Amino acid sequence: MASSGMHQPDVRSFAKDLEVEAIRTSTGATDAGVGFSISTLREMELARRLCQHVHDVIDGRSFFDRYAVNAMCMRVLLMIGSVQSYFREELPSDKARLLDGLRGILNELEGSNLCDPKIRSFFEEAVRYLKAASAPETLQRPGGEGEELSEAVQRIPTMLCRETLRYYKWLARTFEGAGDIVELGSWMGSSTACLAEGLSQNLNRERKAIHVYDSFIWREWMKTYTEDPELRAANIRAGESFLEYFWNYTEPYRDLIDVHQSVLRTGTEQLALPATEWGGGEIGILVMDFAHDRASNEAMWRVFGPSFRSGSTIVVFNQFGNIPAGEVREFCREKVQQLVPLHKPYGSAKAFRFQGFVE
Ligand SMILES: C[S@@+](CC[C@H](N)C(=O)[O-])C[C@H]1O[C@@H](n2cnc3c(N)ncnc32)[C@H](O)[C@@H]1O
Repeated sequence: MASSGMHQPDVRSFAKDLEVEAIRTSTGATDAGVGFSISTLREMELARRLCQHVHDVIDGRSFFDRYAVNAMCMRVLLMIGSVQSYFREELPSDKARLLDGLRGILNELEGSNLCDPKIRSFFEEAVRYLKAASAPETLQRPGGEGEELSEAVQRIPTMLCRETLRYYKWLARTFEGAGDIVELGSWMGSSTACLAEGLSQNLNRERKAIHVYDSFIWREWMKTYTEDPELRAANIRAGESFLEYFWNYTEPYRDLIDVHQSVLRTGTEQLALPATEWGGGEIGILVMDFAHDRASNEAMWRVFGPSFRSGSTIVVFNQFGNIPAGEVREFCREKVQQLVPLHKPYGSAKAFRFQGFVE
């Protein structure tokens, strides 16, 4: 029996470990769109309280009701974790089990007090995606695993995982099709440098430059990824341009980069910058890493789509597999006739081969 005079479990050491882990992960690279440290403190507090609760249950100070809303929330989070893991690799062998799990949780939600439309629609969207998921034979594992990233590339702050960076280098190095390379959303130039390094080693290289588009305007959330001491010391404020930092980091690749500081108009941008336009010719590769909302992806399609080449252009959605990127997945599913799955590197990115035409 528990009593108030009993020895209390020492959860402080566990909380300390969690703190160390949180600091480590908050400074580590991750795929774009999912920042760790924005909520790190809140998560640490939640973890501390959960740990305390586990001790209370074990010691009999508390009873764990597996049908209570908090237990349901935990199962929901675990299922979201499974969806996240699936999207890292999209292995066909994982699909059936995940579908079963999703149907199970949807049933449980039906009969629980957790009748939350947002949670429901997230899982329903995941079920729709899995049911419609492309024939695995069109989806190839790209060969970027062995790609070496130079010192110069590795020192650039990034929002991407290493596997994705290797994939970009491999893609630009091995691309044999016609047309330009376009990158939407370069931030400090990490993905840009990988594309440039790959392009410089491409034996069929006929393209002179990578067309890089970004507003280069600093946002508060970007701090999450700012581990480089030089960048931290710069203390760039929200609303200021970070273009000079992009140029510093990508200096070795300057000849291969053509920068367009502009804003892709989606209806909500207030920035006094020129609107993003494409005045070039055919596009061979387009990497989309602006944002995961529908409006941004539709605007990209409107501006650049008419220059895609049927059967040749590769369109990469860098944020495709991130949990909040449901609208990107929906967008691609609706364009199933024009976007044929091509590559699934490890991480959030997914590449498609374009076919047909965009009016
Ligand atoms: C996710 S970050 C790109 C990360 C980068 N690819 C890397 O390697 O770390 C998104 C970038 O897109 C830019 N961006 C987002 N929406 C934009 C828009 N509508 N117009 C112009 N730039 C935009 C942001 O300024 C930011 O630098």
